[in-house]
Amino acid sequence: MPTTTDPAAGALVDAFGRVAADLRVSVTDRCNLRCTYCMPAEGLDWLPKPELLTFEELTRVIAIAVGLGIRSVRLTGGEPLLRRGLPELVAQIAALEPRPRIAMTTNGLGLDRLAQPLKDAGLDRVNVSLDTIDREAFTRLTRRDRLDDVVKGLQAAADAGLLPVKVNAVAMRGVNDESVADLLQWCLDHGYELRFIEQMPLDADHRWDRSTMVTQAEILDRLGERFALTPLGAEARGSAPAETWLVDGGPAVVGVIASVSQPFCGACDRMRLTADGQLRSCLFARSEHDLRTPLRSGASDAELAEQMVRLMAAKKAGHGIDDPSFLQPARPMSAIGG
Ligand code: 5AD
Ligand code: SF4
Repeated sequence: MPTTTDPAAGALVDAFGRVAADLRVSVTDRCNLRCTYCMPAEGLDWLPKPELLTFEELTRVIAIAVGLGIRSVRLTGGEPLLRRGLPELVAQIAALEPRPRIAMTTNGLGLDRLAQPLKDAGLDRVNVSLDTIDREAFTRLTRRDRLDDVVKGLQAAADAGLLPVKVNAVAMRGVNDESVADLLQWCLDHGYELRFIEQMPLDADHRWDRSTMVTQAEILDRLGERFALTPLGAEARGSAPAETWLVDGGPAVVGVIASVSQPFCGACDRMRLTADGQLRSCLFARSEHDLRTPLRSGASDAELAEQMVRLMAAKKAGHGIDDPSFLQPARPMSAIGG
């Protein structure tokens, strides 16, 4: 294969000096849950299959990005496990030089079957979304009675050695905000690393409301009622968005991603590719760059690389969720990729 890009020709740097090292790749916009903070009850109009990038196209874009300095790739969705043959894509990514770290964010459904094949193909780690271990609250939040399947998926991930297994939770007022300490206890008992994420305005229903959002401060108060939390400080955080605390003296830790109340945009090292081949510099970007058209009309690797460099150079300083002029992106989280 020809060298995709001369690294000296440009890296993914923006006007604020941030360098992209992490690429999030959505492999499908479909999902088998209907989390209220993400999707409407009836689901969305899924992308027609021809609009999705093929594995070959995805691998080509990822290879070019790796040539430009991307060091870790995270597969997302929708629900990535719904994309047929996913281990094959993982194997293709794992064969790139230098090999990026490969992680996946999943809701866990089907992971009981796929954890081992994915690990064998080269997947390094998983984050499984699980907001509560209370069946009734889980069903209310995801609109599906699938808690047991998620629990099985988590177990399979641990058995396959996709370690550390991380759990992502969004606290929702009146649903699971009062049970965050139960979820932490459960994760401690099972050896999973829990991280809470503040709810962001990415729901298809546009119901997000800053004034009722459960904040990091509130989550910490609740956890503090049952656990002794010791902050691990800024060095532990680096460009990772989660702030972390030792639980009861450690070694277990809990994280909170305060995307809204304490934005980490200044340290952001991410770039995103949607399932239909649109490149985004930010979850909240108001515009995206169509890579699929040039990909399918004979653009060279160097031309695609140049388009990536240009898009990232124009990355905005931050999401501005707290600004009065903030506008929610036109596409919901499931279409953009988490
Ligand atoms: N705010 C915060 N997190 C969200 N997720 C999905 N929608 C939102 C939102 N509106 C989470 C999912 C998953 C990850 C991709 O992002 O629970 O863990
Ligand atoms: Fe599916 Fe994830 Fe959206 Fe829930 S948050 S509906 S699991 S894509």
